[in-house]
Amino acid sequence: MGDESLEEQFKKLKFLVELSAHKNQNSNLSFDTLVQMDESDGISPSEPISDTVEKQLEVEDSVQKIYDDVLSKGSEHFPALNRKGHLIYTNIFLHKPLPSQMTVLDASHCWILYWLINATSLLGGVQSIKNDVCQNCIKMAMSYLYEDDEDEGFGGGYMQTPHLADTYAMLCTLAIVGDEECWSQIDRKKVYHLLLSLKNKDGSFAIAKDSETDTRSVYCALCTACMLNILDDELKKGVEDWIVSCQTYEGGFAGNPGDEAHSGYTFCAIASLCILESPARIAELINVDSLLRWLCHRQYAIEGGLSGRTNKLVDGCYSHWGGGTAALLECISGNRNVINRTALQNYILCCCQAEPFGLVDKPGKYPDFYHTNYVLCGLSACQHYQIYDEKLALKEGTAFGYRPITIPDEKVITIDEKNLVEALDPVFVAPSGSVLKMRNYYRELMPC
Ligand code: FPP
Ligand code: ZN
Repeated sequence: MGDESLEEQFKKLKFLVELSAHKNQNSNLSFDTLVQMDESDGISPSEPISDTVEKQLEVEDSVQKIYDDVLSKGSEHFPALNRKGHLIYTNIFLHKPLPSQMTVLDASHCWILYWLINATSLLGGVQSIKNDVCQNCIKMAMSYLYEDDEDEGFGGGYMQTPHLADTYAMLCTLAIVGDEECWSQIDRKKVYHLLLSLKNKDGSFAIAKDSETDTRSVYCALCTACMLNILDDELKKGVEDWIVSCQTYEGGFAGNPGDEAHSGYTFCAIASLCILESPARIAELINVDSLLRWLCHRQYAIEGGLSGRTNKLVDGCYSHWGGGTAALLECISGNRNVINRTALQNYILCCCQAEPFGLVDKPGKYPDFYHTNYVLCGLSACQHYQIYDEKLALKEGTAFGYRPITIPDEKVITIDEKNLVEALDPVFVAPSGSVLKMRNYYRELMPC
């Protein structure tokens, strides 16, 4: 930022990482790291004051006030995860219909269901979701399944035509709460036909008939095919080259070739490649160094949170889009400290928890289901490493070769039991193991 060279900025982040690595187990690492973050310079005073800089200064200021307050109270008052409160928030609408003010979200039913179920399972574990809630979710999810003579997929809501983002979200949901009975009701042959009909000549996939294409639609298509065990050479044709062509001169990935790098699209690109290839092969396909550099620069020194793109503000949801990318990039690059987990956890716990519940983009914003889910996914990425287990990959396929390791004693991040959330499947973004269980059900069936 400002006059500071990139090397100096990098050194600063590296310093924070090293600090994290050298604290002993008894120290309160979150608090100690916060002390260091408090000494960061942030944006340089010599920076010309554009709208962008003004907004950045406002955020730095609001975050700094929060951190100063935490520091003035002492380490024993470091904010804890409000698990109970957030569970109340995620459970309200799993038990009753959405309020009438939410009719504008009529095409987002599938997403809402996924965000609520995934967030609930991160906070309390899949086993904590009561059977009647699971049955209700299955019923809702299956009501969004839409079929015609040739195709089948989930639409955004009841009687809405198939959309790959909703299909992805519902398959994750059914992986979490579903059972063989509901899995068997999905006509994989028709879903395969839908996917083929959405495949573009250049190898990518459109998100729905006559709709847009980006790395997000490609990710949703590959997840869908992989979860249902219908991913074959025909669907794979050309897609890898297309994804690789989305890496930009900055190092991150854009939604389409030639567009601006963004961490949302970058996650989709990298997770898609992880469905197709091993981390070692991905390292040969993309420019790992420039991606590492770009991703490191998404984390800001004062806030500790991540932005989605260059010169934009931190936002809690990028804790997942960037943090989730970092989890996979650690396996691809062999570098275990792509982002500073402790600093990100500080941002999440101190700045992203709303009162009385729910998680947010940044201080002062209202909670919503999307941010509640993805901020918690980001917290999970702070607390668990992923390792790529070759043996597991050989047995289950490359997309399922990732195994989480929780790291209470590795001196990289303080995990206080009370703040610990569940580990995620880093490719599909559902609780670890849930998607594999559903995929294995389909694997045992005859090819469709
Ligand atoms: C910019 O918003 C947001 C985008 C360009 C899209 C981001 C893409 C994702 C979040 C991936 C979605 C993937 C799936 C699977 C649903 P903005 O301009 O409001 O935010 P910014 O200022 O932080 O860039
Ligand atoms: Zn956001």
